[in-house]
Amino acid sequence: MHDQPPLGDTPPEVFRKQLHQLADWIADFRENLDQLPVAPNDEPGAIRRALPVQPPENAEPFDKILSDINRLIVPGMVHWSHPMFLGYFGWTQTGPGILGEIASAPLNVNAMTWRTSPAATELETLVVDWLRQWMGLPDEFGGVVYDTASVGIMHALAVAREEVAPSTRKLGLTARNLPRFRVYTSDQAHSSVEKAAIALGLGEENIQRVPTDAEFRMDVAALRAMIERDLAEKYKPLAAVATVGTTSTASVDPVLEIARICREHKMWLHVDAAYGGGFAILPEYKGITEGWSEADSIVINPHKTLFVPLDFSVLFVRNLERLRSVFTLVPEYLRGDTIEAEKNYMDYGIQLGRRFRALKAWMIWRSLGRAGMADRLREQMRLTNLLVDWIKADKRFELAAPVLMPVVCFRLVTRDESSRRSEAKADITALDRLNSEIVERINASGRAYLTQTKLRGRTVMRIGFGNVLTTEEHIRRAWELIQDTAHELRR
Ligand SMILES: Cc1ncc(COP(=O)(O)O)c(C=O)c1O
Repeated sequence: MHDQPPLGDTPPEVFRKQLHQLADWIADFRENLDQLPVAPNDEPGAIRRALPVQPPENAEPFDKILSDINRLIVPGMVHWSHPMFLGYFGWTQTGPGILGEIASAPLNVNAMTWRTSPAATELETLVVDWLRQWMGLPDEFGGVVYDTASVGIMHALAVAREEVAPSTRKLGLTARNLPRFRVYTSDQAHSSVEKAAIALGLGEENIQRVPTDAEFRMDVAALRAMIERDLAEKYKPLAAVATVGTTSTASVDPVLEIARICREHKMWLHVDAAYGGGFAILPEYKGITEGWSEADSIVINPHKTLFVPLDFSVLFVRNLERLRSVFTLVPEYLRGDTIEAEKNYMDYGIQLGRRFRALKAWMIWRSLGRAGMADRLREQMRLTNLLVDWIKADKRFELAAPVLMPVVCFRLVTRDESSRRSEAKADITALDRLNSEIVERINASGRAYLTQTKLRGRTVMRIGFGNVLTTEEHIRRAWELIQDTAHELRR
């Protein structure tokens, strides 16, 4: 018979040793990250095949688990924190952010009510208000922390629906002779708008995609026309979703004009500033906040641009009570913990159990300050502008969209070395394929990671900056890699 491990937790002296081991592991990982391939190039299923299928019957030592992380997990990762990871919106991780994540682990609270977690609740209210002040939002806006912007918009549209069709919360949607609701958003807006419609029973088809202008901003004349058409056909315009920093090009919709249309038609205005919102901490970007104070709800993802580790998304609602009244529900077994509360965040969404996300935001925002974040965002823009200059100087490439934030969409436009033929003459499909292959080949090499998207039906390459570890040297290397890969593929 072998020795049974003791019950209870790891003995304190052993735990201390393991923590030190883990601290060294984290520090080594961060120090050597630059040397790792940015992405693996394995077949789907390769990692799973290397892992035991049988669930563990007996306890395994920490050393073995840690060594398996090094051996099996780390090589199977796309390293989003790598300085050559230039996909999506870039991605950042900082020392204070990691410390914030670690610090919340041993506290391990459930921030569902004030009583079950007073400090977590009050800190959440505090950091959400810091963000409100940085964004220049009037104090009639209150906020709540969710995991993601997708969850934020779902809650916002649930409130919009309740206000247009009172008692939906109670009676549901069916057999009530309600009109078909419509929600308008641009053809560049994020798919979370449709996801919200799916979840809320509004129907994916009732999300109407409004065309955009040459700079990928919502065309407000087209919005007006679509609303008029829908009214004539007895649809009920429910909401408009304006985007500040669209997913493909970081374009900014004319929020103020959209707000006016919403007021005219008594529609809810949701501003999706998931990506772009963070730039409002820079005085030179204040223009992007125009019209926000007219909105009913605004979502901002500090995990995208304000240095908080994933996940941390804030939904602001003008008069937060509107949100609370749709979602508050206190079962008997929680009643004792809801009386005399400052605020019970479980009342502001469908989630009951909630992580202590505010701690990491509080720690990173204190560690960097607004000024420290602003300097880093400005550095991202400096690197962005460098890349833009290099693209403009190379006649084989062209920019595919205006550059307002650290997101650059561009494409290879010629297939032969010597002459730059017009796109009308060029083989467009082959060029699209070539642009796509450049991205795929680079990503498979593990030397950098970029993404591709389609703009006006054409495939373009896309680089997003956001990582504090990415330097001018990294960008230079990435650009040379793109040029060389284009050259090789054309041959
Ligand atoms: C503009 C925009 N809105 C919403 C989202 C959804 O964000 P989340 O992943 O937090 O749901 C994204 C994601 O990239 C986005 O780019």
